[in-house]
Amino acid sequence: MSELSKPAVVILLGPPGAGKGTQARILEEQFGLVQLSTGDLLRAAVAAGTDAGQKAKAVMESGGLVSDEIVLEIINDRMRAADVAQGVILDGFPRTKGQAEALDAMLAEAGQEITAAISLEVDDAAMVARVSGRYTCGMCGEGYHDSFKQPAVAGVCDKCGGTNFKRRADDNADTVAARLAAYHADTAPLIGHFDRAGVLRRVDAMQDIGPVTAQLISVMDGAIG
Ligand code: AP5
Repeated sequence: MSELSKPAVVILLGPPGAGKGTQARILEEQFGLVQLSTGDLLRAAVAAGTDAGQKAKAVMESGGLVSDEIVLEIINDRMRAADVAQGVILDGFPRTKGQAEALDAMLAEAGQEITAAISLEVDDAAMVARVSGRYTCGMCGEGYHDSFKQPAVAGVCDKCGGTNFKRRADDNADTVAARLAAYHADTAPLIGHFDRAGVLRRVDAMQDIGPVTAQLISVMDGAIG
């Protein structure tokens, strides 16, 4: 990886199950960036029982989008933390026009800009299969899938050796349909927003995990320089 003049700000866009989290975890190691997932931050707030978490819980369980106000409060705090100084991969943010405009303002204030907004493009049908088979390590958060990505030793996390796995409460058929509808209504229009800004890159995310990673590395090498 080459020396960065400004911290990289890479956005991963895509519907639920597109592979944003899977790929962000790989890319953060490869490029020395920090993954910021608003879904993970919101789930942590729910688990901790904070005010924001209590307000977000029912919305997340229904598959709707949490309000911009709550999301921006959480991401603002996180973006100011010392560990993100060398650059971030934004996973699941921004998701609305309001969030995209707030991000632009936040970056302008810090003298930064978006390095690339990468759209992971998948069919709706593939995304349902991916989400419904997903589970994660309860210790380190590494993601797995019943069919597409299993641990090398059954029941043992490849990454940390943990043996406790969990499934997300919102990974059920009804909620997945609502999450997909929210994606098409509020988030897909951002593809045009980033295209007009000249930072959009598209990746065919219908391929297996490895080939998608290879495409992303190539796009990121080109964008980061
Ligand atoms: P969030 O946690 O962001 O969920 P999401 O966008 O629905 O995305 P997912 O985590 O489901 O999918 P992913 O693209 O990360 O796929 P993954 O890599 O896991 O948000 C949850 C909720 O929080 C939202 O519904 C909303 O309520 C709220 N929220 C979050 N951010 C918000 C915001 N900014 N504004 C408002 N509300 C917000 O992959 C899925 C599975 O497929 C895995 O098992 C993986 O192993 C497998 N897989 C991945 N890639 C491939 C591949 N290429 N081939 C085969 N299998 C694959």
